[in-house]
Amino acid sequence: MLVHAIPSNVSYDFGADVRDGLTCSGQKELPSKYLYDEVGSALFEVICRLPQYGLTRADERLLRRHADEIVDRLRGPVAVAELGSGSGKKTRWLLEALCRRQRTSYYPVEISRSALVMCERELSDIDSISIVGFEREYLDGLLEVASYRKSGQRLFVLFLGSTIGNFDRPAGVKFLSAVRSVLQPGDSLLLGADLEKSTAQLLEAYDDELGVTAAFNLNLLARTNRELGADFDLRQFAHLAKINPIARSVEMYLQSKQRQTVNIPAAEISVEFEEGETIWTESSHKYSAKEIVATAREGGFRCECQWIDQQWPFSENLLIAE
Ligand code: AVI
Repeated sequence: MLVHAIPSNVSYDFGADVRDGLTCSGQKELPSKYLYDEVGSALFEVICRLPQYGLTRADERLLRRHADEIVDRLRGPVAVAELGSGSGKKTRWLLEALCRRQRTSYYPVEISRSALVMCERELSDIDSISIVGFEREYLDGLLEVASYRKSGQRLFVLFLGSTIGNFDRPAGVKFLSAVRSVLQPGDSLLLGADLEKSTAQLLEAYDDELGVTAAFNLNLLARTNRELGADFDLRQFAHLAKINPIARSVEMYLQSKQRQTVNIPAAEISVEFEEGETIWTESSHKYSAKEIVATAREGGFRCECQWIDQQWPFSENLLIAE
């Protein structure tokens, strides 16, 4: 086992993104990627264990149950790249199945350093594995992984946990096409995508009674206070989860409880909020099983096989680059 991390070249400007998102005309917004600092990543791990949030357990169940079959369907020796590995817990089943067949290079790609550290710690005990983590945006990391490809080796890309749902539908297709453009015909992508379910089930999952999702969302304001010296009073904002039936998504907002002004010195702005005004922080789109196949096709992939969890509608999709 070799564990090695390629340090960050992720260059985004939190201050500029906060300024753009909070001073635009119309709906204020903060990009969801900023939910995942150290505190946010830890809170997300707790969300994944909540009884109401069945998504991660469904993903894990499918991977545990079908790991051997998934691996059997892969052709030739493969290197594994995981886009957004998180803690890496659910990837264990696949990697163990692969490592029984071949020595395996595993390249987790993460913008969250703390998630990468958790992931490397979680998986480093697997026999016949080498782990090289990339602290990168997904596509930058994938391009770099592809440059490590040995001759005759195929790439097996993992995009699990329904992160695809955090893109709107056109952006989801665009992302799949961008992944496809880095791959060669015959390479594969395992795509985890959450499926449509009842409004009640979704609202319980994204507005849990314990308030963990609320804390996860509010941490975005706390992060702005920590990193940009802002003076958000977290008690004056509330977590709001809403169903958008047209987009077929759950949307998360932070809603101002009163009229107030917030100063954000490092972004050089003061922002006025009306009572009830919202900041959009994330959308989570839900798919039908058929739609995934069509979306994959639009992105340049053929769906080789689809597995669906019966307890919590969720799909694992093995896509082959055409
Ligand atoms: C990471 N992503 C798939 C999660 C989701 O369900 O959209 C993020 C999340 N937001 C609130 N709860 C979980």
